[in-house]
Amino acid sequence: MDKFVIYGGKPLSGRIAISGAKNASLALMPATLLAQGVFHLHNTPNLRDVWTLSRMLGEMGVHCELNGQDLFMDTSTLTSFEAPYEHVKKMRASFHVLGPLVARYGQAKVSLPGGCAWGPRPVDLHLKGLEKLGAEITLEAGYVVAKAPSNNGNGARLRGAKVHFDISSVGATENIMSAAALAKGTTLITNAALEPEVTAQARMLVKMGAKIEGIGTSTLEIEGVDELKAVTEETIPDRIEAGTFLIAAAMTRGKITLEKTNPYHLSAVIAKLEEAGCEIDVTGEEITIAMNDAPKPVDMTTAVYPGFPTDLQAQWMAFMLCANGTSKITDTIYTDRFKHVPELLRLGADVEMLDNTAIINGGKQLSGATVMSTDLRASASLILAALVAEDRSEILRVYHLDRGYEAIEKRLQALGANIRRERTAEF
Ligand code: EPZ
Repeated sequence: MDKFVIYGGKPLSGRIAISGAKNASLALMPATLLAQGVFHLHNTPNLRDVWTLSRMLGEMGVHCELNGQDLFMDTSTLTSFEAPYEHVKKMRASFHVLGPLVARYGQAKVSLPGGCAWGPRPVDLHLKGLEKLGAEITLEAGYVVAKAPSNNGNGARLRGAKVHFDISSVGATENIMSAAALAKGTTLITNAALEPEVTAQARMLVKMGAKIEGIGTSTLEIEGVDELKAVTEETIPDRIEAGTFLIAAAMTRGKITLEKTNPYHLSAVIAKLEEAGCEIDVTGEEITIAMNDAPKPVDMTTAVYPGFPTDLQAQWMAFMLCANGTSKITDTIYTDRFKHVPELLRLGADVEMLDNTAIINGGKQLSGATVMSTDLRASASLILAALVAEDRSEILRVYHLDRGYEAIEKRLQALGANIRRERTAEF
């Protein structure tokens, strides 16, 4: 087990290159199962989640090799259509292999990601979408078993259909878009998610030979083809990592420049940061942020893209702890994504919850304490708060952070933060 030891009070300064997007890699990697051959995914982030998915695909016979940021995947050696619980329980995105497997091989057996199909973080939209495409879905001992319908004696194959999502879902859109790419006939997906990671997957599918119209919109028309081919693809920059570093610089009243970003993916975040009083300059792929004072208290409500992302909700809360005044944060995407609040209270924060809205009474000096990481983005907010807290803070269970941020302590050190990783027996 590792922990981070942080002494707060140092303004961040310097330049930092942003990694490839975790959530784009977790969309592109499953989609490779739609074709047989060797894929080369450039700018893949070196993260625990990528390793987890690579290990799972490896056990299914797909040879995965990550050299630095270059991920090579040979899908021609796939031998199993089963994604076991031991991997899926660690990472929900493993569920994204369901659509590609049943589309390419006519069958799949994928563990439910945790909770029931219809419980917290359900997968009902994924399953209903596949059933619309003709798949026969059964739930067996915690696994989803999917079979494509027979195709007039030519084996099993999904059939194009109209798929409407009652709510916008990134994962369900990615799963169904993959499945539709090889279905017989045309699929019309309405209320498709617009997140850049969904668009990135659609663009790779087209490169592979898929026929998709409406990319970047909420209506996708997909004309199924018989075969797709392996390709080389560049992973888009990680907008959530970028947003996290922008907020870290603003909180510590520093000045940093992010390199290798896509500023268009951060429009809502940049607008909110400017509303709070940050100076931001965007030049090409670089974003420079400077902040000399406490931020203004600014209310924020998360929304699907292009709104303010739920994956930056916890980090924004840490920022608002530094504001002189009261602000509110409402998460409209998840009903239970405030596990960082009790830990922030241990650092001296004044936050109260009212249903799905947090009321932040900012301006109180935070003081160092030992806090516990609970999930990836909550952990990021604890690091941000510790960067401005007086004295020493310890953040336990940093494996949560390693899932989504590449060597975050080294990169923060390079920007001037007083942070180090220590091995600990503490759990
Ligand atoms: C993706 O998760 C991201 N993960 C999440 O990022 C992100 O928080 C989320 O999208 C929302 O933007 C990856 O891309 C790997 P959803 P996903 O399906 O696809 C409900 C991070 O920190 N829903 O868009 O699982 C769901 O409960 C991670 O990097 C259903 O009801 O999210 C939620 O309330 C955390 N039924 C809402 O939709 C379903 O079948 C949006 O979820 C599917 C989802």
